[in-house]
Amino acid sequence: MLWGNNAQGKSNILEGIYFFARGRSFRGARERELIRFGEKHAELSLTFQKEGAVYPVTLEADLPQTGRKILRRGGARLSGVRELIGAFRAVLFCPLHLSLVGGGPALRRNFLDIALSQLYPGYLDSLSRYNRILVQRNALIKSGGSTDQAVWEVYGRQLAHLGADIAARRHTYMKMLETHVREIFEGMTDGREAPRLTYQSSAIPEGDEPDEAKIRKEGEARLFSSLTGSIEREMRYGATLYGTHKDDIAIRLNDKEARTYASQGQQRSLALAMKLAEGELAKAIGGEYPVFLLDDVLSELDGQRRAFILQALTDRQIIVTSCEPAYFGADTVHMLHVQEGKIIGSEKNA
Ligand SMILES: Nc1ncnc2c1ncn2[C@@H]1O[C@H](COP(=O)(O)OP(=O)(O)OP(=O)(O)O)[C@@H](O)[C@H]1O
Ligand SMILES: [Mg+2]
Repeated sequence: MLWGNNAQGKSNILEGIYFFARGRSFRGARERELIRFGEKHAELSLTFQKEGAVYPVTLEADLPQTGRKILRRGGARLSGVRELIGAFRAVLFCPLHLSLVGGGPALRRNFLDIALSQLYPGYLDSLSRYNRILVQRNALIKSGGSTDQAVWEVYGRQLAHLGADIAARRHTYMKMLETHVREIFEGMTDGREAPRLTYQSSAIPEGDEPDEAKIRKEGEARLFSSLTGSIEREMRYGATLYGTHKDDIAIRLNDKEARTYASQGQQRSLALAMKLAEGELAKAIGGEYPVFLLDDVLSELDGQRRAFILQALTDRQIIVTSCEPAYFGADTVHMLHVQEGKIIGSEKNA
């Protein structure tokens, strides 16, 4: 546990650790902003042990004020973030994630993107290419478009192909996640309510129960026809209106839309269950539990949910931040007191 007063650097430490899981800041800070005020560059280093492995792994990052970051694994230079991601896996849970159910769709897409990217390098590839092409297509729309139908078709084909891949993987992941979310949520609420989570995509017709192969084939065709059939509308709107960048996760509780009907507490419980389920899937697919990083969430949860999350994470590695050092009774907790950007005290069994 990292504990200390506000603005002492607790979240900064988590941000540094999480950097190696995502290759970027979780606060959306740009790389330059990770460098200490007045300095020209930042160095980060993380050493961790894989389950069953003999030697620990060390990851390093050099972030210069200008120019590209340098990433290393075991001293050897990596070509980029793609090579970094997946080596060290973490599940982050911060107050923003408490709005996972009630907030906007971008939060839920982001949840899927982060989880899938850490597990499948191919997903990250498709996603980055998709986003790059989307930016180009949007720029074309904003600059007045093109009268050449072939241009739109090239964009449509590329986005439809990558979008169908993204949708297929997200769909499969959601299916697996739902099973875990239900189980965890039932444990949290004594089985009174059963949530349903489904991936909603313009690649998948409503009410359809598709499989991955079907989404890849039929979803691609659907996306292509949406992308090439609505250009006038998109020109009026000023951006690409169809595709996986608009998708969402539909979350229902007792057959009602959770975003609208579930109580604040139920929404938080669901969000919590989704985060814990993300960890379970990382174990099931990736082979070992990720490190759980809990930034400030314990203080945001009531006693019952706090107890549940700590119980659910027994025997996992978790790093939590808090203003008070008093949330744990367990004797395996390592307490680190953070003050003015430094760890000033360290004790076990606090
Ligand atoms: N690039 C930077 N260089 C030096 N200090 C910075 C930089 N960016 C942010 N800070 C400082 O770090 C502090 C915030 O640290 P952090 O968010 O880790 O605090 P915290 O301990 O998590 O606090 P809280 O309990 O309020 O969440 C702020 O005082 C901020 O001014
Ligand atoms: Mg903080």
